[in-house]
Amino acid sequence: MKIFITKRIPQKGIDLLTAAGHEVAIHDSSTPLSPTDLIQAGQQADYILNGGMQKFDEEFFENCPNLKALSLMSVGHDNVDIPAATKYGIPVSNTPGVLSGATADVAFLLMLAVSRKAFFNHKQILQGQWKGFDPTAHLGIELNNKTLGIYGLGRIGFEFARKARAAYNMEIIYYNRGRNLEAERILGARYVNFDDLLTQSDVLSIHAALTSETSNRFNLDTFKRMKNSAILINTARGGLVQEDDLASALRLGELWGAGLDVTNPEPMAADNPLLNLENVCILPHIGSATVETRDNMALMAASNLLAAIKGEKMPQIINP
Ligand code: DGY
Repeated sequence: MKIFITKRIPQKGIDLLTAAGHEVAIHDSSTPLSPTDLIQAGQQADYILNGGMQKFDEEFFENCPNLKALSLMSVGHDNVDIPAATKYGIPVSNTPGVLSGATADVAFLLMLAVSRKAFFNHKQILQGQWKGFDPTAHLGIELNNKTLGIYGLGRIGFEFARKARAAYNMEIIYYNRGRNLEAERILGARYVNFDDLLTQSDVLSIHAALTSETSNRFNLDTFKRMKNSAILINTARGGLVQEDDLASALRLGELWGAGLDVTNPEPMAADNPLLNLENVCILPHIGSATVETRDNMALMAASNLLAAIKGEKMPQIINP
Protein backbone atom coordinates (compact mmCIF):
# COMPACT_ATOMS: atom_id res chain seq x y z
CA MET A 1 0.00 0.00 0.00
CA LYS A 2 1.08 3.59 -0.54
CA ILE A 3 1.44 5.48 2.71
CA PHE A 4 2.11 9.21 2.82
CA ILE A 5 3.62 10.73 5.99
CA THR A 6 3.07 14.49 6.23
CA LYS A 7 6.18 15.21 8.34
CA ARG A 8 9.16 13.08 9.36
CA ILE A 9 8.36 10.93 12.40
CA PRO A 10 10.67 8.75 14.55
CA GLN A 11 12.24 5.98 12.50
CA LYS A 12 10.63 3.21 14.57
CA GLY A 13 7.22 4.12 13.17
CA ILE A 14 8.51 4.24 9.60
CA ASP A 15 10.30 0.89 10.03
CA LEU A 16 7.11 -0.75 11.25
CA LEU A 17 5.36 0.27 8.04
CA THR A 18 8.16 -0.62 5.64
CA ALA A 19 8.78 -3.97 7.38
CA ALA A 20 5.17 -4.84 6.59
CA GLY A 21 5.99 -4.27 2.90
CA HIS A 22 4.37 -0.88 2.38
CA GLU A 23 5.65 1.94 0.24
CA VAL A 24 6.26 5.04 2.37
CA ALA A 25 6.68 8.60 1.09
CA ILE A 26 7.57 11.38 3.54
CA HIS A 27 7.13 15.14 3.29
CA ASP A 28 10.49 15.80 4.89
CA SER A 29 10.30 19.54 5.44
CA SER A 30 9.69 22.04 8.22
CA THR A 31 7.23 23.86 5.95
CA PRO A 32 3.73 22.40 6.13
CA LEU A 33 2.05 21.31 2.90
CA SER A 34 -0.34 23.80 1.32
CA PRO A 35 -3.99 22.64 1.27
CA THR A 36 -3.63 21.96 -2.48
CA ASP A 37 -0.46 19.89 -2.04
CA LEU A 38 -2.06 17.99 0.82
CA ILE A 39 -5.03 17.10 -1.37
CA GLN A 40 -2.67 16.03 -4.14
CA ALA A 41 -0.81 13.78 -1.70
CA GLY A 42 -4.13 12.39 -0.45
CA GLN A 43 -5.13 11.56 -4.02
CA GLN A 44 -1.93 9.59 -4.63
CA ALA A 45 -1.80 7.68 -1.35
CA ASP A 46 -3.95 4.90 0.06
CA TYR A 47 -3.26 5.92 3.66
CA ILE A 48 -1.96 9.02 5.42
CA LEU A 49 -0.04 9.28 8.67
CA ASN A 50 -0.06 12.86 9.92
CA GLY A 51 3.13 13.68 11.78
CA GLY A 52 2.58 17.43 11.84
CA MET A 53 -0.13 19.99 12.37
CA GLN A 54 -1.74 19.75 8.92
CA LYS A 55 -5.42 20.61 8.71
CA PHE A 56 -7.79 18.06 7.18
CA ASP A 57 -11.03 19.78 6.29
CA GLU A 58 -14.14 18.76 4.37
CA GLU A 59 -12.58 19.88 1.07
CA PHE A 60 -9.69 17.48 1.68
CA PHE A 61 -11.90 14.45 2.32
CA GLU A 62 -14.21 15.31 -0.56
CA ASN A 63 -11.27 15.42 -2.96
CA CYS A 64 -9.49 12.26 -1.83
CA PRO A 65 -11.96 9.52 -2.76
CA ASN A 66 -9.33 6.76 -2.74
CA LEU A 67 -7.98 7.50 0.72
CA LYS A 68 -8.77 4.67 3.11
CA ALA A 69 -7.66 5.92 6.54
CA LEU A 70 -5.91 8.76 8.33
CA SER A 71 -3.70 8.12 11.34
CA LEU A 72 -2.68 11.08 13.52
CA MET A 73 0.52 11.04 15.53
CA SER A 74 -1.07 13.24 18.18
CA VAL A 75 -3.74 12.94 20.79
CA GLY A 76 -5.31 16.27 19.76
CA HIS A 77 -7.48 16.14 16.66
CA ASP A 78 -8.82 19.67 16.42
CA ASN A 79 -7.00 19.88 13.06
CA VAL A 80 -9.32 17.27 11.55
CA ASP A 81 -12.95 17.72 10.58
CA ILE A 82 -14.07 14.39 12.07
CA PRO A 83 -17.73 14.67 10.93
CA ALA A 84 -16.47 15.26 7.36
CA ALA A 85 -14.08 12.28 7.58
CA THR A 86 -16.96 10.13 8.80
CA LYS A 87 -19.23 11.43 6.02
CA TYR A 88 -16.66 10.33 3.42
CA GLY A 89 -16.05 7.00 5.16
CA ILE A 90 -12.51 7.72 6.37
CA PRO A 91 -11.57 6.31 9.76
CA VAL A 92 -9.27 8.60 11.77
CA SER A 93 -7.16 7.53 14.74
CA ASN A 94 -4.99 9.31 17.31
CA THR A 95 -2.39 8.41 19.96
CA PRO A 96 -3.95 8.77 23.42
CA GLY A 97 -2.28 7.65 26.65
CA VAL A 98 1.32 7.31 25.55
CA LEU A 99 2.05 11.03 25.91
CA SER A 100 0.20 11.72 29.15
CA GLY A 101 3.22 11.44 31.46
CA ALA A 102 5.51 13.57 29.28
CA THR A 103 2.89 16.27 28.78
CA ALA A 104 2.03 16.33 32.49
CA ASP A 105 5.76 16.80 33.17
CA VAL A 106 5.76 19.95 31.05
CA ALA A 107 2.72 21.28 32.92
CA PHE A 108 4.62 20.58 36.15
CA LEU A 109 7.76 22.25 34.81
CA LEU A 110 5.79 25.37 33.86
CA MET A 111 3.96 25.47 37.20
CA LEU A 112 7.21 25.34 39.12
CA ALA A 113 9.02 27.73 36.78
CA VAL A 114 6.27 30.35 37.01
CA SER A 115 5.84 29.98 40.77
CA ARG A 116 9.55 30.80 41.21
CA LYS A 117 9.84 33.18 38.24
CA ALA A 118 12.61 30.93 36.93
CA PHE A 119 12.59 32.01 33.29
CA PHE A 120 12.36 35.69 34.19
CA ASN A 121 15.25 35.38 36.64
CA HIS A 122 17.29 33.52 34.06
CA LYS A 123 16.60 36.27 31.52
CA GLN A 124 17.76 38.86 34.08
CA ILE A 125 21.10 37.07 34.39
CA LEU A 126 21.50 36.87 30.61
CA GLN A 127 20.86 40.61 30.44
CA GLY A 128 23.44 41.36 33.15
CA GLN A 129 20.73 42.50 35.57
CA TRP A 130 21.65 40.26 38.52
CA LYS A 131 23.10 42.55 41.16
CA GLY A 132 23.67 39.90 43.84
CA PHE A 133 21.74 38.26 46.63
CA ASP A 134 18.84 40.32 47.90
CA PRO A 135 16.55 39.17 50.75
CA THR A 136 13.56 40.97 49.29
CA ALA A 137 14.06 40.30 45.58
CA HIS A 138 13.30 37.35 43.28
CA LEU A 139 10.51 36.18 45.55
CA GLY A 140 8.32 33.38 44.27
CA ILE A 141 5.31 31.66 45.76
CA GLU A 142 5.15 28.16 47.21
CA LEU A 143 2.95 25.36 45.98
CA ASN A 144 2.59 23.29 49.16
CA ASN A 145 -1.05 22.63 50.04
CA LYS A 146 -2.27 25.04 47.37
CA THR A 147 -5.29 24.34 45.17
CA LEU A 148 -4.73 23.03 41.67
CA GLY A 149 -7.67 23.51 39.31
CA ILE A 150 -7.81 21.28 36.27
CA TYR A 151 -9.87 22.35 33.28
CA GLY A 152 -10.57 19.07 31.46
CA LEU A 153 -9.68 16.09 33.61
CA GLY A 154 -8.74 13.40 31.10
CA ARG A 155 -5.58 11.32 31.03
CA ILE A 156 -3.10 14.24 30.95
CA GLY A 157 -4.98 16.30 33.53
CA PHE A 158 -5.14 13.26 35.80
CA GLU A 159 -1.43 12.60 35.45
CA PHE A 160 -0.55 16.22 36.24
CA ALA A 161 -2.92 16.28 39.23
CA ARG A 162 -1.39 13.02 40.49
CA LYS A 163 2.14 14.44 40.31
CA ALA A 164 1.13 17.74 41.92
CA ARG A 165 -0.67 15.97 44.75
CA ALA A 166 2.27 13.65 45.39
CA ALA A 167 4.87 16.45 45.29
CA TYR A 168 3.03 19.29 47.02
CA ASN A 169 -0.07 17.76 48.56
CA MET A 170 -2.09 20.09 46.37
CA GLU A 171 -5.84 20.00 46.71
CA ILE A 172 -7.33 19.04 43.36
CA ILE A 173 -10.48 20.62 41.99
CA TYR A 174 -11.67 20.10 38.46
CA TYR A 175 -14.15 21.17 35.84
CA ASN A 176 -15.04 18.66 33.16
CA ARG A 177 -17.86 17.60 30.85
CA GLY A 178 -18.62 14.83 33.33
CA ARG A 179 -17.39 13.56 36.68
CA ASN A 180 -14.07 11.68 36.83
CA LEU A 181 -14.76 9.22 39.61
CA GLU A 182 -11.30 7.67 39.44
CA ALA A 183 -9.73 11.08 40.15
CA GLU A 184 -12.17 11.66 42.96
CA ARG A 185 -11.36 8.29 44.51
CA ILE A 186 -7.59 8.24 43.99
CA LEU A 187 -6.74 11.94 44.31
CA GLY A 188 -9.65 13.18 46.39
CA ALA A 189 -10.40 15.51 43.47
CA ARG A 190 -13.47 17.72 43.87
CA TYR A 191 -15.80 18.44 40.94
CA VAL A 192 -16.66 22.15 40.83
CA ASN A 193 -18.48 24.51 38.49
CA PHE A 194 -16.51 26.76 36.16
CA ASP A 195 -16.84 29.81 38.36
CA ASP A 196 -15.52 27.95 41.42
CA LEU A 197 -12.65 26.63 39.33
CA LEU A 198 -11.71 30.21 38.48
CA THR A 199 -12.10 31.69 41.92
CA GLN A 200 -10.61 28.84 43.99
CA SER A 201 -7.57 27.76 41.92
CA ASP A 202 -4.08 28.85 42.93
CA VAL A 203 -2.85 27.13 39.80
CA LEU A 204 -5.28 26.60 36.93
CA SER A 205 -4.12 24.15 34.30
CA ILE A 206 -5.84 23.68 30.95
CA HIS A 207 -6.11 20.13 29.58
CA ALA A 208 -9.26 20.24 27.46
CA ALA A 209 -9.53 19.75 23.71
CA LEU A 210 -9.98 22.77 21.46
CA THR A 211 -13.58 22.86 20.23
CA SER A 212 -16.05 25.59 19.31
CA GLU A 213 -17.17 25.41 22.95
CA THR A 214 -13.71 25.80 24.49
CA SER A 215 -12.22 28.28 21.99
CA ASN A 216 -11.12 31.48 23.83
CA ARG A 217 -12.71 30.10 27.01
CA PHE A 218 -9.98 31.88 28.98
CA ASN A 219 -10.30 35.61 28.36
CA LEU A 220 -10.19 38.88 30.26
CA ASP A 221 -13.49 38.17 31.96
CA THR A 222 -12.28 34.79 33.28
CA PHE A 223 -8.85 36.17 34.25
CA LYS A 224 -10.53 38.91 36.29
CA ARG A 225 -12.44 36.27 38.25
CA MET A 226 -9.24 34.39 39.12
CA LYS A 227 -7.05 35.14 42.14
CA ASN A 228 -4.43 37.84 41.55
CA SER A 229 -1.90 35.34 42.87
CA ALA A 230 -3.00 32.59 40.44
CA ILE A 231 -0.88 30.87 37.83
CA LEU A 232 -2.34 29.85 34.46
CA ILE A 233 -0.85 26.83 32.70
CA ASN A 234 -1.74 25.72 29.18
CA THR A 235 -0.33 22.55 27.65
CA ALA A 236 -3.46 21.75 25.60
CA ARG A 237 -4.08 24.05 22.63
CA GLY A 238 -3.34 27.76 22.27
CA GLY A 239 -6.84 28.49 20.98
CA LEU A 240 -8.36 28.02 24.44
CA VAL A 241 -6.67 31.20 25.65
CA GLN A 242 -7.29 34.69 24.32
CA GLU A 243 -3.64 35.77 24.28
CA ASP A 244 -4.16 39.55 24.04
CA ASP A 245 -6.47 39.32 27.04
CA LEU A 246 -3.90 37.23 28.90
CA ALA A 247 -1.25 39.88 28.24
CA SER A 248 -3.63 42.60 29.50
CA ALA A 249 -4.54 40.57 32.59
CA LEU A 250 -0.87 40.04 33.44
CA ARG A 251 -0.08 43.72 32.91
CA LEU A 252 -3.01 44.67 35.16
CA GLY A 253 -1.80 42.29 37.88
CA GLU A 254 -4.90 40.10 37.60
CA LEU A 255 -2.67 36.98 37.63
CA TRP A 256 0.72 36.04 39.09
CA GLY A 257 2.00 34.53 35.87
CA ALA A 258 1.43 32.12 33.02
CA GLY A 259 3.16 29.07 31.59
CA LEU A 260 2.30 28.20 28.01
CA ASP A 261 3.50 25.24 26.00
CA VAL A 262 1.02 26.04 23.24
CA THR A 263 0.14 29.30 21.52
CA ASN A 264 -2.17 30.56 18.82
CA PRO A 265 -0.78 30.61 16.19
CA GLU A 266 2.29 28.38 16.35
CA PRO A 267 4.94 29.56 16.07
CA MET A 268 3.87 32.74 17.81
CA ALA A 269 4.70 36.10 16.26
CA ALA A 270 8.04 37.54 17.40
CA ASP A 271 6.26 40.71 18.55
CA ASN A 272 3.63 38.89 20.65
CA PRO A 273 3.27 41.07 23.80
CA LEU A 274 3.41 37.98 26.02
CA LEU A 275 7.09 37.60 25.17
CA ASN A 276 7.98 40.84 26.95
CA LEU A 277 6.06 40.26 30.13
CA GLU A 278 7.81 39.49 33.35
CA ASN A 279 6.39 36.21 34.55
CA VAL A 280 5.48 34.31 31.43
CA CYS A 281 7.23 31.09 30.43
CA ILE A 282 6.64 30.02 26.87
CA LEU A 283 7.77 26.73 25.39
CA PRO A 284 7.53 25.60 21.75
CA HIS A 285 4.84 22.89 22.08
CA ILE A 286 7.15 20.28 23.63
CA GLY A 287 4.62 18.44 25.82
CA SER A 288 5.21 15.07 24.17
CA ALA A 289 8.77 15.81 23.04
CA THR A 290 10.83 13.09 24.69
CA VAL A 291 12.63 10.36 22.79
CA GLU A 292 10.60 7.65 24.52
CA THR A 293 7.21 9.28 24.07
CA ARG A 294 7.70 10.28 20.45
CA ASP A 295 8.87 6.71 19.65
CA ASN A 296 5.74 5.34 21.30
CA MET A 297 3.52 7.81 19.48
CA ALA A 298 5.09 6.88 16.12
CA LEU A 299 4.65 3.17 16.84
CA MET A 300 1.04 3.65 17.89
CA ALA A 301 0.25 5.76 14.82
CA ALA A 302 1.87 3.17 12.55
CA SER A 303 0.03 0.30 14.29
CA ASN A 304 -3.27 2.08 13.78
CA LEU A 305 -2.55 2.29 10.06
CA LEU A 306 -1.49 -1.35 9.86
CA ALA A 307 -4.78 -2.36 11.48
CA ALA A 308 -6.71 -0.30 8.92
CA ILE A 309 -4.71 -1.87 6.09
CA LYS A 310 -5.64 -5.33 7.37
CA GLY A 311 -9.28 -4.29 7.28
CA GLU A 312 -9.49 -4.19 11.07
CA LYS A 313 -10.88 -1.40 13.22
CA MET A 314 -8.10 1.02 14.12
CA PRO A 315 -7.49 0.49 17.86
CA GLN A 316 -7.54 4.23 18.59
CA ILE A 317 -10.27 5.23 16.17
CA ILE A 318 -11.86 8.63 16.85
CA ASN A 319 -14.91 8.60 14.55
CA PRO A 320 -18.13 7.81 16.40
C1 DGY B 1 -0.80 16.13 20.80
O1 DGY B 1 -0.52 14.93 20.75
O2 DGY B 1 -1.94 16.55 20.60
C2 DGY B 1 0.32 17.06 21.07
O3 DGY B 1 -0.12 18.33 21.33
C3 DGY B 1 1.25 17.07 19.89
O4 DGY B 1 0.54 17.43 18.78
